Amino acid sequence: MLVADPGFAALTLGYSSAAPYRGLIRLGVASRGQRRRCPEFNAHQWRLVCPARFVRMAWKARFFMASTDLVLAMTGASGAPYGVRLLEVLVRAGRTVHLVMSPAAALVLRTELDRTVRLDRFDLADLLGPSAASIGPGRVLYHNYRDFTAGIASGSFLTAGMAICPCSMGTAAAIAHGLSENLIHRAADVHLKEKRKLVLVPRETPLHLVQLRNLATCAEAGAVVLPAMPAFYTKPQSVQDMIDFIVGRVCDQLGVEHQLLKRWSEGGS
Ligand SMILES: Cc1cc2nc3c(=O)[nH]c(=O)nc-3n(C[C@H](O)[C@H](O)[C@H](O)COP(=O)(O)O)c2cc1C
Repeated sequence: MLVADPGFAALTLGYSSAAPYRGLIRLGVASRGQRRRCPEFNAHQWRLVCPARFVRMAWKARFFMASTDLVLAMTGASGAPYGVRLLEVLVRAGRTVHLVMSPAAALVLRTELDRTVRLDRFDLADLLGPSAASIGPGRVLYHNYRDFTAGIASGSFLTAGMAICPCSMGTAAAIAHGLSENLIHRAADVHLKEKRKLVLVPRETPLHLVQLRNLATCAEAGAVVLPAMPAFYTKPQSVQDMIDFIVGRVCDQLGVEHQLLKRWSEGGS
């Protein structure tokens, strides 16, 4: 009998042959034994096509995938509306936000927005009002400022960055000197040591030399100092426009998309 395919002939005669396995190898589904029996088997090409390898790589990569979670801390500087608005914008942009507030932040919030939050029995509705109802569970993860067991107190807990908005001079001083007296200071420390984005939104005027030096120290350590200084070249029509300008600039730093401000040279201005 004349057999055209020598591989098929070898197989039917009981000899091992490469031919039947070539297709399997090309598809990336040949077993180790089948690969060994194919003399042209190319380990490099196999690594490129093997689906099991892709699955293994994806499984390992999930441990190294960057988190998109953000940390937002509000402290006792004037400017609670900036912090509240930033929280709303980050959540609306689809981010999970780890929220921490200092006792002084709660005091300023009451003074500036007539809202009372209980730091030991936190309710998002107390901070955001009725708009909290539209925020799904797990989107804002609140941590008490004394809770050093929170994930954000550790560098091994991945985040995409942190903003302290507003940032008091006291908190800036604590960060500049690495005091870590509460979870806000500690999380800021973590972001600096892990070389992650830390945005400080200080508000004080005028500034004395120690405050200026503390802010400079934070900047030297890697923080972005973004003072609550709204611009006027955008011709703001309301206080909300001015708030949105600062919140938009914070979002720019955190890599969060937004439509909060008119950019220079957009719309003719
Ligand atoms: C109504 C009010 C407004 C304040 N405004 C500021 C401010 O603009 N900047 C600032 O650094 N501190 C301000 N403070 C003082 C801080 O709240 C105070 O220094 C506090 O200890 C800061 O603590 P914290 O950094 O833990 O939030 C203000 C306090 C109150 C009650």
